[in-house]
Amino acid sequence: MRTQVGIIGAGPAGLLLAHLLHLRGIESVVLEVRSRAYIEERIRAGLLEQGTVDILDGAGAAARLHREGMIHEGLALRFDGESHRIPLTDLTGRRVTIYGQQEVVKDLVALRLGYGAPLVFEAADVAVHDIDSERPSITWTEDGAPRRLECDIIAGCDGFHGICRGNIPPDVLRIYERVYPFAWLGILAEAPNVHHELIYARHDRGFALATMRTPTLTRLYLQCRPDEDLGEWPDHRIWEELHARLARRDGPSEVHEGPIVQKGVTAMRSFVAEPMRQGRLFLAGDAAHIVPPTGAKGMNLAVADVWYLTQALEAFYAGRGTAGLDGYSDRCLRRIWKAQRFSWWMTSMLHRFDAGDAFEHKVQVAELDYLCGSEAGMRTLAENYVGLPLD
Ligand code: APR
Ligand code: PHB
Repeated sequence: MRTQVGIIGAGPAGLLLAHLLHLRGIESVVLEVRSRAYIEERIRAGLLEQGTVDILDGAGAAARLHREGMIHEGLALRFDGESHRIPLTDLTGRRVTIYGQQEVVKDLVALRLGYGAPLVFEAADVAVHDIDSERPSITWTEDGAPRRLECDIIAGCDGFHGICRGNIPPDVLRIYERVYPFAWLGILAEAPNVHHELIYARHDRGFALATMRTPTLTRLYLQCRPDEDLGEWPDHRIWEELHARLARRDGPSEVHEGPIVQKGVTAMRSFVAEPMRQGRLFLAGDAAHIVPPTGAKGMNLAVADVWYLTQALEAFYAGRGTAGLDGYSDRCLRRIWKAQRFSWWMTSMLHRFDAGDAFEHKVQVAELDYLCGSEAGMRTLAENYVGLPLD
């Protein structure tokens, strides 16, 4: 089998890249190790920057997003039992949209299968070959039979645990990493939303976030230990902790309880692999970088990467040379590091690092207090949160 671009991984990065290339007349084959049901049900974050929505819109992939997405023009920071609104849209002219990542994945899978382009699920033993030549290839096993795909370019969109990054030689690959001493326990509950906007809460017992999926499906997160055992978190303990961390000084929390339909623990890590390219292999999304979810940047960064990669591939196939491909890694990394900084900053400001460190608590609250009392401070947060420009 032969194609122009071989894409490994059917997450938001791989699926969107395949679709953007299709719209430009560039052929690709997408290979995914998991089943369709698995990738469509996998619960992840769900906040889209306006730039992400605009890219999906321009690609004709936003019809359901526009019907079901929840548009937000502000968010609340809560500390010392009081909420402070950051008016994102007043400060930046831009909005964000809540729409689950797996909904984006479902929409992109349906589009691709709708026009009959190749998308292989349950591709086992995926491996890349000859990436330093002009004829790289991918091999895998499908229904027990060995398969091979020759291509011009390989896009490594296979997430943090994928195989692509490992093909960059160790003497070339540089890893920058920070692992946080906590994780997030996330739940999905059939309950009214806590508030019509997101609440990011700093509390002495640890961070909490109140977000949503639909008006009656609420997503809530609690800072927990990285090795947290979900068995120690019966529903009543989760609600008790949410009430406490989201409590208001002058009244009870607005948390509404309801049946918990999903529970999970997400590790918190900042990670960047440089460069994002080796020969004809290009990494995009979580394959190259991970951010802690406090800044809501994960999926947005994946979309920005494939937007840049699409532009570079379009120029390459139009005979305009390899300058775009050669500059891909640096162009992505410049924006990625700004999102890394923002995600690290939000995480540092809102989480409890060391329960015994009273000085740190005071400094955190002072920073939040300063931020919420300063137009410049709020604007800095807002500009980064709604998404830096895609130059
Ligand atoms: N072969 C084929 N597919 C693979 C392989 C492999 N060896 N290893 C992993 N995959 C698949 C995974 O099953 C997954 O479907 O690659 C896909 C990668 O998708 P994501 O992990 O969603 O990564 P990405 O598309 O970069 O999107 C980034 O995901 O983790 C979140 O917060 C993150 O929102 C961000 C988004
Ligand atoms: C979510 O809705 O899952 C979500 C929103 C904002 C974040 C993280 C997660 O910062």
